[in-house]
Amino acid sequence: MKVELLSGALGAEITGINLCDTSANNIKIIKDLLWEHKVIFFREQDISHQEQIDFAKCFGPIEHHAYVKGLPNHPEILRIVKEPYEKNNWGENWHSDVSYNSKPTQAVILKSVEIPPIGGDTMFANMELAWETLDEKLKNQIIDKKALHSSLGMSFFVDNYAGMEAKKVDIDEYSNEHPIVRTHPETKKKILYVNWTYTKKIIGLSKKESDELLMKIFKHQERLELTCRFKWTKNAVAIWDNRSVIHYAIADYFPNRGLGHRRIMDRVAIKGDKPF
Ligand SMILES: [Fe+2]
Repeated sequence: MKVELLSGALGAEITGINLCDTSANNIKIIKDLLWEHKVIFFREQDISHQEQIDFAKCFGPIEHHAYVKGLPNHPEILRIVKEPYEKNNWGENWHSDVSYNSKPTQAVILKSVEIPPIGGDTMFANMELAWETLDEKLKNQIIDKKALHSSLGMSFFVDNYAGMEAKKVDIDEYSNEHPIVRTHPETKKKILYVNWTYTKKIIGLSKKESDELLMKIFKHQERLELTCRFKWTKNAVAIWDNRSVIHYAIADYFPNRGLGHRRIMDRVAIKGDKPF
């Protein structure tokens, strides 16, 4: 096995591991790598839909997306599609997946199916490091506070994406409160758990105070020193610990730039726990 770090902050590209080997020993090695590096990458993984699902199940029960339909024969797989004529890319802007749920996604297994010749990289930022390096005064202002996360409603997830099909839902927008500083259930490390996309308010503060504080936190957690960037190739697999990173799919390849390319990714998510 070979481990190559992507940056000083987080992320590692792993070679010499077989993702179709779901033995307890192999899964333990992969989980240990994931907890340590927070996002890990594997190239040249020509695995089937079922193999991706079986591998994901080794981490916990599969989570179905609240708003977007999965593949017809494999509903566990949410296919992220950007058509060549589209500008927007599902997952752009900093976020932690589904942080508006009472039990947000534990981890995501994302496989590239079709990738543009240039652009469409994904960035990740280490929220354990973000907490460690946050200004002490700011830390004291938020350590015991909770924040409100909102799902933003169906239209946010499908309107700008021709290839993403909506589910029928009873409730359009829902929200949950989570500790701003959560504890990783495996490593017990503290994690800064807010994100620009879904976190709307700090509970117990006025709107003005909350907005000002959140703006400072968002600015900190997006510092390039906390990030790594992955350039996709076809059949690459990323696994991220969705509790300890935020991520950003870069929409820099669209027709107006002469870069009208298609990008297709298959996403399988694993259910998480209630943040504490
Ligand atoms: Fe995402």
